[in-house]
Amino acid sequence: MKKYLVIGNPINHSLSPKLHNYWLKQNNINATYDKIKLEENEIETTIQDIKKQKIAGCNVTVPFKKMVIPFLDKLSLEAEQTQSVNTILFNNGDLIGHNTDIEGFYKAIETLRFPLKNKKVLIIGAGGVVPSIIFALKKMHVSEISITNRTEKKAEDIKNQFNNIILTKWGDLPEFDMVINATSLGLNNESIKLNFSKVGKNKLFYDVIYNPSETSFLKEGKRLGNIGENGKLMFIYQAMEAFYLWHGFKPKVDNEIIELLRND
Ligand code: ATR
Repeated sequence: MKKYLVIGNPINHSLSPKLHNYWLKQNNINATYDKIKLEENEIETTIQDIKKQKIAGCNVTVPFKKMVIPFLDKLSLEAEQTQSVNTILFNNGDLIGHNTDIEGFYKAIETLRFPLKNKKVLIIGAGGVVPSIIFALKKMHVSEISITNRTEKKAEDIKNQFNNIILTKWGDLPEFDMVINATSLGLNNESIKLNFSKVGKNKLFYDVIYNPSETSFLKEGKRLGNIGENGKLMFIYQAMEAFYLWHGFKPKVDNEIIELLRND
């Protein structure tokens, strides 16, 4: 039986096994999908197991998305440009690193019907997922991407990785049509210490976090008359794209899937 994995640290929270195992069963594929918590020095051995095909393929989550790169043979263009790999595929003897977070974000926004072409976007945070979000936003032809992070140096590093990113001082909020919380603030119900009261209405407040389903950032956005959306669909669509890379077809994303992940 083929074996797939998600590797990360911590990994307990990961809903990837639940989602992939659901799709495997739904499509009568004889395979399993597990999660493993790894230490940094264990990454290489696990990845070599894919080369030996003891493991058929794997997803990579925080904090290993960049650290796996030296152990791979090839990168997709998206993985190369973002220096972020979340899916490893074995193809013709090569280990290939892909980034499906980009398409996950892109498709999630597409379903919202909030056209971002020529719109201004503010990203709060500079963690591992931000390069993927920027890549997708550029594909959507937004007019302006600003980034602000508590530790400015990290935002500066991301700015230097792309063209035309505006760096904004922590605490200052530029004008925007969409604001994205890409920090870890909200996972434990802490709130972001930024004042949104003057941003206006009908903007899109997007949180990469989906558990809890409504962070204080989203609550505040809605209270001020804006639209709020969490990262659940992004999560589902990045998984769908990984499934496609491994199994050659896209599994169904329907209400049942959204329900399946609701109570976690
Ligand atoms: P990843 O592991 O995905 O790279 P991370 O590096 O833990 O994520 O990044 C988490 C993000 O949340 C960072 O932008 C971090 O800001 P710093 O770079 O200043 O650490 C942000 N973050 C976490 N706790 C925060 C807090 N209390 N206030 C403001 N930002 C915070």
